[in-house]
Amino acid sequence: MAFVTEQNLTDLAAERWGSAHDPRTARLLSALVRHLHAFAREVELTEDEWMSAIDWLTATGHTCDDKRQEFILASDVLGLSTLVVQLNNRLSPGATPATVLGPFHIDGSPPAEFGHDMAEGVRGTPLYLTGRVLDTEGEPVPGAVLDVWQADAQGAYEAQLDVDEARLRAKYRARQDGAYCLRTIAPLGYTIPMDGPVGELVDRTDISPFRPAHIHFLIEEPGYARLITHLFREGADHLATDVVFGTKDALVVPFVERPAGPAPDGRESTEPYLYAEYDFVLDSGGVRGGS
Ligand SMILES: [Fe+2]
Repeated sequence: MAFVTEQNLTDLAAERWGSAHDPRTARLLSALVRHLHAFAREVELTEDEWMSAIDWLTATGHTCDDKRQEFILASDVLGLSTLVVQLNNRLSPGATPATVLGPFHIDGSPPAEFGHDMAEGVRGTPLYLTGRVLDTEGEPVPGAVLDVWQADAQGAYEAQLDVDEARLRAKYRARQDGAYCLRTIAPLGYTIPMDGPVGELVDRTDISPFRPAHIHFLIEEPGYARLITHLFREGADHLATDVVFGTKDALVVPFVERPAGPAPDGRESTEPYLYAEYDFVLDSGGVRGGS
């Protein structure tokens, strides 16, 4: 057995962790050791800096609870979440790109009929969103479930509020021709929570803490890759500086202003509304890893 030197320490540690019984775990841990050591060597990590990092990780853990996940937030702002999405969603050309799930999805949203108003009294500018769910050949995907959730006109999600009933979230189903139609209100962009260790770090930089206005979608149909994505409002603030690196060109859509009158759901809108149209294209290559 070789005794430890600055030169051989990384190899010794990587080899030790490479003994994990599961081959994938062995690969992950030995690579982790090599990259951690390379980082410390590159920046000549001081003992004070090492302790600061330990304190920051400890505070990040203490900030997590049932509703708040500060580690996911850390991963998001470092660009790691989006990188993992990219690596695991190399979809066919023409398929709608995926983006981050984010921390505000709630399971079990109520089913909604074609054209249902998922805002149900929550104040804001009415927004109709219509289009079709298609495959990469342009054929409709009937029955696809569109699980939709969003922030309100103040930028707040249900998960951040003390409410008992589903708020600004619902599950729609594509019709036989692939068409979907939902009514809601225009969401507002929002800042990530800035009162924890992640915000404290962001505050020490020029990074904008905002996300541009968007609506979340999780679209599923057996035989297709599950699609987790957003639609962003064209012209919204912060599109180019999304703090979690989630914005993609193909996901930015115009919200067109329309006067009161006939609405896309076949009813009359008594007030002016916004209208957006978007076809989601599911990859038919089967379900792939990641989310
Ligand atoms: Fe969001």
